Amino acid sequence: MEFFETVQKRRSIRQFTSQPVEQEKIEQILEAALRAPTARATRSAEIVVVTNREMLQKLANAKPMGAAFIAEAAVAMVVVANTEKSGPAIEDAAIAAFSMQLAAQALGLGSCWSHMRDASYDALISSSDYICQALGIPRHLMIECVIAIGYAAEGKKSYAATELGRDRIHYGQY
Ligand SMILES: Cc1cc2nc3c(=O)[nH]c(=O)nc-3n(C[C@H](O)[C@H](O)[C@H](O)COP(=O)(O)O)c2cc1C
Repeated sequence: MEFFETVQKRRSIRQFTSQPVEQEKIEQILEAALRAPTARATRSAEIVVVTNREMLQKLANAKPMGAAFIAEAAVAMVVVANTEKSGPAIEDAAIAAFSMQLAAQALGLGSCWSHMRDASYDALISSSDYICQALGIPRHLMIECVIAIGYAAEGKKSYAATELGRDRIHYGQY
C-alpha cells in the first residue's frame, strides 16, 4: 500500500478474524520497529512478540478497560521502554509502536494500541509489573503499550478531511 493511502486508511481495529498473521508479515512489522528513530541512536525500545493464545488472554487482562481486544488478536507486540538505556525511552517506544501500526496497515492488517504505562492491573499491581511478570521481563523495564494485530473483522471508514481538526495547525505563530 502506498504511504499516504496507508496513513489515510489506518483506523484502530479491535475485532480480528481467527486467521493467523504470516511469519513474513510479523518480521516486516518488527523491521519497522527496529528501523524507527531513537534518541541518540540508543535503540532503547524492545519488543516481545506474543502469539500464544493463553498469553494473549493474560495480556488482555492487564487492565480492566481498553485491553480486552488483545485476546482476539493473532499477535501482540509488547512494547518495552528501557529507561536505563535512554532518557526519552518512552518516546522511543511510542515511535516504534506506531511504526508497527503503520506497517501492519500497509500489509493489509488491522491493529490497535492498548496503553499500559501508568495503567493498573488492580489496586496493588501496575499493568506494567503484571506484564513483566507474565513474560519474564525484568521489572526495571517499563511496558509502554501492547499493539494488537490481526486480520480485521470490522470495517472502519477513513476520516474525511473535514474531520481531522485542521484548527490544530498553526502556521508561523499560534
Ligand atoms: C497513546 C495511545 C493510547 C491508546 N490507548 C488505548 C487503549 O488503552 N485502549 C484502546 O482500546 N485504544 C487505545 N488507543 C487507540 C485510540 O483509542 C484511537 O487511536 C482513537 O480512538 C482514534 O481512533 P483511530 O485510531 O481509529 O483514528 C490508544 C491510542 C494512543 C495513541
